[in-house]
Amino acid sequence: MKKILDCIAEAIKPAFTACGYEESFARVTLSNRPDLCEYQCNGAMAAAKTYKKKPIDIANDVVEKLEGNPVFAQVSAVMPGFINIRLSEDYVADYMNTMVREPKFGLEESKNKGTIIVDYGGANVAKPLHVGHLRSAIIGESIKRLGRFLGYNMVGDVHLGDWGLQMGLIIEELRDRQPELVYFDENYSGEYPDQPPFTIGELEDIYPAASAKSKVDEAFKARAQEATFRLQNGCEAYRAIWRHIMNVSLADLKKNYANLGVTFDLWKGESDAQPYIPGLMEDLEKRGLAYESQGALVVDIARDTDSKELPPCIIRKSDGAALYATSDLGTIIERERDFSPSRYIYITDKRQELHFIQVFRVAKKAGYVKEDTPMIHLMFGTMNGKDGKPFKTREGGVMRLENLVEEINDAVYDRIMENRTVSSEEARKTAQIIGLAALKYGDLSNQASKDYIFDIDRFTSFEGNTGPYILYTIVRIKSILSKYEENKDAFSDGAGILGAISAEEKNVMLQLAKYNEVMESSFAETAPHKICQFIYELSDVFNKFYNSTSILKEEDKARQASYVKLITLVKGVLETCIGVLGFEAPERM
Ligand code: ARG
Repeated sequence: MKKILDCIAEAIKPAFTACGYEESFARVTLSNRPDLCEYQCNGAMAAAKTYKKKPIDIANDVVEKLEGNPVFAQVSAVMPGFINIRLSEDYVADYMNTMVREPKFGLEESKNKGTIIVDYGGANVAKPLHVGHLRSAIIGESIKRLGRFLGYNMVGDVHLGDWGLQMGLIIEELRDRQPELVYFDENYSGEYPDQPPFTIGELEDIYPAASAKSKVDEAFKARAQEATFRLQNGCEAYRAIWRHIMNVSLADLKKNYANLGVTFDLWKGESDAQPYIPGLMEDLEKRGLAYESQGALVVDIARDTDSKELPPCIIRKSDGAALYATSDLGTIIERERDFSPSRYIYITDKRQELHFIQVFRVAKKAGYVKEDTPMIHLMFGTMNGKDGKPFKTREGGVMRLENLVEEINDAVYDRIMENRTVSSEEARKTAQIIGLAALKYGDLSNQASKDYIFDIDRFTSFEGNTGPYILYTIVRIKSILSKYEENKDAFSDGAGILGAISAEEKNVMLQLAKYNEVMESSFAETAPHKICQFIYELSDVFNKFYNSTSILKEEDKARQASYVKLITLVKGVLETCIGVLGFEAPERM
């Protein structure tokens, strides 16, 4: 269905043309003086130049033509030439009834549905999944869900870091711990075992130990580098260890992501890009796009329009090794082959800004990706602790994701138990649902690029701009609806949503009317925080309406049925929005 602003513009266009003004001046925005009006049109100001008239005269002309128009409760011209608008109660109610009837509450699916790759998560295999990867997973999941809801073919790829030095470190640490394993026997020529030589628990111990050792032991580090090189160049024994590492960690990673409500369509990684790399290097060299510089193979990416100097993209180091950028380019070649995406969205922290500028520019320069295909790097800021420094555990280490989730769930559990209206078993289950909402909303409600402070107390609060507050609102509506249902026989069904009889009720409707616009712009701008802002405001106007209106005691049955339909719509819109953000509401809380 049409956006409310466009509907209003349609309604005032004839007034502009009837006065001899171009209809393009009939643009409408939300009012920036909500105390004076709901919407405004500034077209008279713009038209003044064209028609060499005073803006206020134009505004008065237009307003006069709108007199008696049933769309409006009030239209007035105010100095220097604003047209202030209030919609009629019936018109707004009609808009609500259309939302109720339409699929997806009137949100139209995008017409050119292409495939969009969302590259998010980005966990590094065999390294613990820590809070640094949390934001990517949370933001990416919401973008993927939103795009899907809008009708795009969204393909989410976790793009694992599964090909780096951590693999060589693990191989060498394993050699030190279990030198008798066949993988380390140079003369071994049989099949390698199916069973991994370590459990996930052991693997979790091996990597940090190896990483620490490499920082103090130069020889060990050199061995790890050598092992990484051999793995990447086809050593069968190391390949077998690598497969074990992958199998064991993937099971664990999948569990971790599932707990966050994050799922991927593709579980690919840097290793999958390797087959494309030799061809890629050859192609870039042959076409003269890449050249040797101090032994390395590089591609220039600087442009005259750049405000700062950008270094060339290194495709191959002087020792012959491929780099992070090379594997991202290989991945792009594969993605083009498999999906020819109409858009790419990568979600990482902003420290990778230069990396993606380089990769995108090489991809376009070489023609691997069409010039007009958007390649978006959604960069996010750091999650800080209350001290303003990157979030750490109480002991000062990097917090592991599982522990973080546990900490949030415990905090929510304590809050639920304070009021103690449910059994502790139910409280545990509910705490998990609310905890996830607290965590995700706490992240998503900030503009992604900004750093934010991870504050458990604030995030888990049932009041204010928090996930639990939104859930609380939904639960409250559910409870009103179920009480209404219990006594329904006595009530009439009514005609639909009626024109509002209070300012609070109308505010709920006006807020709901923003829904389709918010969803679309949130996706276009890859900005899930806009949805958070919208549902926060919606919850707020709903709760004000609830506090000022006795829905269940209303004696006019048609009016009561209208209230019920309206709050059902609020619930539907809130649930849709949190579903897109990646969490859900419990039955009670
Ligand atoms: N594994 C990387 C990291 O931990 C993130 C991967 C992001 N995606 C990509 N295509 N480079 O920093």
